[in-house]
Amino acid sequence: MLSLRSLAKTYPNGVEALGALNLDILAGEIVAVIGGSGCGKSTLLRLISGLESATRGQVKIHGEQVMAPHPLINLIFQEPRLLPWLTVEQNICFGIRHLDRLEQGRRLRAVLQQVQLQSYEKRLPKELSGGQAQRVAIARALITQPEVLLLDEPFSALDAMTRASLQDHLLEIWRDAGPTIVIVTHDIEEAAALAHRVVVMQPSPGRILEEIDMDLPLPRHELDLEPYKKRIRAALRRSLASTDQPELNLNEAISNRRVFS
Ligand SMILES: Nc1ncnc2c1ncn2[C@@H]1O[C@H](COP(=O)(O)OP(=O)(O)OP(=O)(O)O)[C@@H](O)[C@H]1O
Ligand SMILES: [Mg+2]
Repeated sequence: MLSLRSLAKTYPNGVEALGALNLDILAGEIVAVIGGSGCGKSTLLRLISGLESATRGQVKIHGEQVMAPHPLINLIFQEPRLLPWLTVEQNICFGIRHLDRLEQGRRLRAVLQQVQLQSYEKRLPKELSGGQAQRVAIARALITQPEVLLLDEPFSALDAMTRASLQDHLLEIWRDAGPTIVIVTHDIEEAAALAHRVVVMQPSPGRILEEIDMDLPLPRHELDLEPYKKRIRAALRRSLASTDQPELNLNEAISNRRVFS
């Protein structure tokens, strides 16, 4: 349903963030994208979302080229980016304010339940914890009923317990509504826990080094993910060996955040 063909992005400063990337993503598939810092992961999501235009190549959804922000595609950033002067419910409904009040209310109740924030709708963003604020951001995306959810390191600023709980929420949302999900992560554990397919990227220019199929059912709490994590780690090492800084260890290369689990 999503098809990326020879997708390339060179920024005005000459940085080749992506070079001729090809990827097909099935409806309802969860794809995790992982790779070193600067290898073009965020650029990839911005191009898919239509927020940024490609230098060459194209993104298609159901065969239709994405040229501008698309109603069926929603991007969630690492930080919640809520409007501080609006309440939780006003933030969540912002993208559907053109709909009638009845429909807004109906959808609001449904998404508040999905992210378990039923009693928080009158609060302001400053009255929320980091995990709650990120749940509001997820609800704000869900309320538009997107077919594609793009998440750019959505849980990386959160503590391990909140992260695990939001990963579970995401899987519940996927089970209920079946969106196609592309999630960028620095966390090997997260990629192995959530994705049907892990795409390992390589920098300069950003491209796909390897795709790893995760042929395990979801959720995976009880399953041994170690063999899969090993393969992801090995691919990341290969991607690092191709850079001009092969002496960096994996942790340093991917980011200063947690990756090695
Ligand atoms: N607006 C921009 N203008 C110029 N160069 C940019 C711009 N955005 C990103 N870049 C460059 O393009 C490359 C890819 O950046 P991108 O943000 O897509 O990487 P990333 O894989 O998301 O990195 P990280 O893991 O650190 O978030 C980097 O070299 C970056 O410096
Ligand atoms: Mg990024």
